Amino acid sequence: MSAGDVQPLAGMSDLCAPEIFLWQRVEDTCRQLFHRYGFTEIRTPLLERLSVFTRAIGEGTDVVQKEMYTLQDRGGREIALRPEGTAGVMRYVAGGGPERAEARLYYLGPMFRAERPQAGRRRQFHQIGAESLGPPSPAADAECIALLTHLLRDLGVSGFNLQINTRGLPEDRAAVAAALRAALGPQRSALCEDCQRRYETNPLRILDCKQAECRAIVKALPPISDHMAAETRAYLAGVLRLLKRLDISAQINPFLVRGLDYYIHTVWEITHPALGAQDALAGGGRYRMEVGGRTLDGVGFAIGMERLLLAMEAAGARPDDSAARPRVWLVAAGAAQTEDLLVLLQILRRHGINAGMDLSGRSLKAQMRAAHRAGAPWVVIRGDAEAAKGVYLLKDMTGGAQTEVELPELLRRLTAP
Ligand code: HAM
Repeated sequence: MSAGDVQPLAGMSDLCAPEIFLWQRVEDTCRQLFHRYGFTEIRTPLLERLSVFTRAIGEGTDVVQKEMYTLQDRGGREIALRPEGTAGVMRYVAGGGPERAEARLYYLGPMFRAERPQAGRRRQFHQIGAESLGPPSPAADAECIALLTHLLRDLGVSGFNLQINTRGLPEDRAAVAAALRAALGPQRSALCEDCQRRYETNPLRILDCKQAECRAIVKALPPISDHMAAETRAYLAGVLRLLKRLDISAQINPFLVRGLDYYIHTVWEITHPALGAQDALAGGGRYRMEVGGRTLDGVGFAIGMERLLLAMEAAGARPDDSAARPRVWLVAAGAAQTEDLLVLLQILRRHGINAGMDLSGRSLKAQMRAAHRAGAPWVVIRGDAEAAKGVYLLKDMTGGAQTEVELPELLRRLTAP
């Protein structure tokens, strides 16, 4: 094995202490809040049939064209690692009865996109997502945004920026595409190569292009909602009115279209100044999908976990390992004591006390070093003399005091706050 073989693949990371403690805190906070809003957890498989994603996300999107990890399984079936959570959740919903079409589901877990890794952009990243199934309603969209902003506040993230727009209904699409082609036609040759192709296939995607030359052209276009039906514009106005009543500030971004094709009506994105170039902290919107012969409607969002942690760290959040640290460390003064102390370990742990011990039969000195490394506030030392008296020597590692105690007193002291 070469030195490189012990590293994870580019754009993927091992998640471990100390950062893992912040991850777990975030996950606990999310679960609590999701339950308050009536959402239950779903864990869909990481691998799905390729068509689950291509159909839902759209053939013309960057995610499907450039970013998916696709492979053939041993039976020659085309499968893919999930690049996002919504498509798999909708596959689940389509496979069940009518009650699933009203479900409220959340998920926490890894997603995979073969992008060029950089700060805040990983090939395996993690999302916190929520999907609220049900027919279009500005109130449902506003509630979903309220959940997202509530979550960010509970996690101590402030200073974020919520941008919102409408993708309109399928009926609006022809008028929007025609208006975009008309407006972009004279400047077509100045667009990037991809966008010259998009001009023909799906001009809406040009609004999402990150190339400087395309952004400059897009900035001067009229809002796409100008070309949508009055009913569509009223829907967005309804969402904005409700957000105001819920005291959530949102800015209209007339060019926000989001990179996935399943959206209709409301779309939004949350950016954060602590994130640098990859500043999208969360994104979401209302969607409609045809899955398994059914039309499914819902609204949802996903937060990028790695980016969320960057924003939290910028606000001063630090991992807290106190719940995982040992409260007591046991030290055997004499090999004969190891067995008795193993029994004591079991008693302590059954009483809910975090307890540790070096079981490899090292010297007293080495065991005391291990005790210091573990950072336990208490150490129990037991030699032949203590064993003969039926006591334990309890050492307070902060003050240094040592007392001989019997088991009931030991338990009392170690469980005292
Ligand atoms: P998305 O905007 O593609 O939406 O991803 C949501 C969030 O995932 C982004 O805002 C970002 O924070 C994070 N993210 C995306 N790609 C990466 C990456 N390569 N590295 C690190 N973080 C990343 C969706 O995925 C939709 N399924 C959201 C949704 C749910 N819409 C409706 N329901």
